[in-house]
Amino acid sequence: MIILGIETSCDETAAAVVADGKRILSSVVSSQIGVHHPYGGVVPELASRKHLEAIVPVTMEALDGAGIGFGQVDAIAVTQGPGLVGALLVGFSFAKGLARAMNVPWLGVNHLEGHLHSVFLGDDPPPFPFAALLASGGHTSIYRVAGPTKFDLLGQTRDDAAGEAFDKVSKMLGLGYPGGAAIGRLAGRGSPESIKFPRAYLDKDRFDFSFSGLKTAVNQYIQRQGDGLESRMADIAAGFQEAVVDVLVYKLIHAAETTGCRNIALVGGVAANGRLRERLTREGKLKGLSVHIPPSDLCGDNAAMIAAVGYHYLREGDLSEMTDDVYSRCKRT
Ligand code: KG4
Ligand code: ZN
Repeated sequence: MIILGIETSCDETAAAVVADGKRILSSVVSSQIGVHHPYGGVVPELASRKHLEAIVPVTMEALDGAGIGFGQVDAIAVTQGPGLVGALLVGFSFAKGLARAMNVPWLGVNHLEGHLHSVFLGDDPPPFPFAALLASGGHTSIYRVAGPTKFDLLGQTRDDAAGEAFDKVSKMLGLGYPGGAAIGRLAGRGSPESIKFPRAYLDKDRFDFSFSGLKTAVNQYIQRQGDGLESRMADIAAGFQEAVVDVLVYKLIHAAETTGCRNIALVGGVAANGRLRERLTREGKLKGLSVHIPPSDLCGDNAAMIAAVGYHYLREGDLSEMTDDVYSRCKRT
């Protein structure tokens, strides 16, 4: 079963061809980072316009890369939400029209389920059930995953998402947008112990997060440095990163232990963070858990993960209607 996936929820125009929900035949991601960088964040209208320019060439490149034509596509899967409405509408309307023209089923996919499925596209997919941490620019949530479309939300952030905190601290340090990778690199040159920023565990037996207090603490620390900031930058990045990683690792391992899962998975853009990957792998193993993390290029937004979910919707007969609309906030998951 060959699924063409399309993703335009934020600032990446992506298309991919995936066989049987797990074998990537091609995956093309066209990033708009250069467009939004001068503004310090994603500008929704610019995002929509760039998607409009890129959607056809990116889709053609994905089909060419897979060595197939439209006639070999069994169904089209497209991100329906959550995300920026104007951006989503570009991919969604395109997919609808294409599916109609090709006379194939089409499937509106939840972007967050897509991230959860990215772990099945790597070399080391976890068996069910597993506890998963989804940490991205818009979400930080823990799920118990019992089957390809069976997700129980155990907890989520009450304010900022982890990736959003990385982006904001990056901005405070003058490193620009998006900031996760830049903070990760800078942190590698600093000491994680030299500045002890607060950790918000909230209730230690629940799986909710809060990163706004940490963000404020980092901001206040930066303000106090004055002219000495340059020499403290790497330690600030490392101290901030460690505070985020401590909480994420603790909560995910605790969620697995509480819900009887022997497997854990880490997904979403923040899952590309080297320190988080390394500590979760080490500490999960120490607790006897099997740790599953997709390769870094599948952690950020891509369309292969959307096609992977679409395969399961198709098998379950959960097809979309021509009158379906996009949604900006979480619906299914
Ligand atoms: O999943 P994603 O590509 O888009 C959303 O669905 O939000 O996640 C993007 C987020 C951004 O906030 C970005 O700063 C963060 O993931 N990110 C990272 C790293 N790479 C990307 N955060 C920490 N360390 C990284 N290496
Ligand atoms: Zn995402």
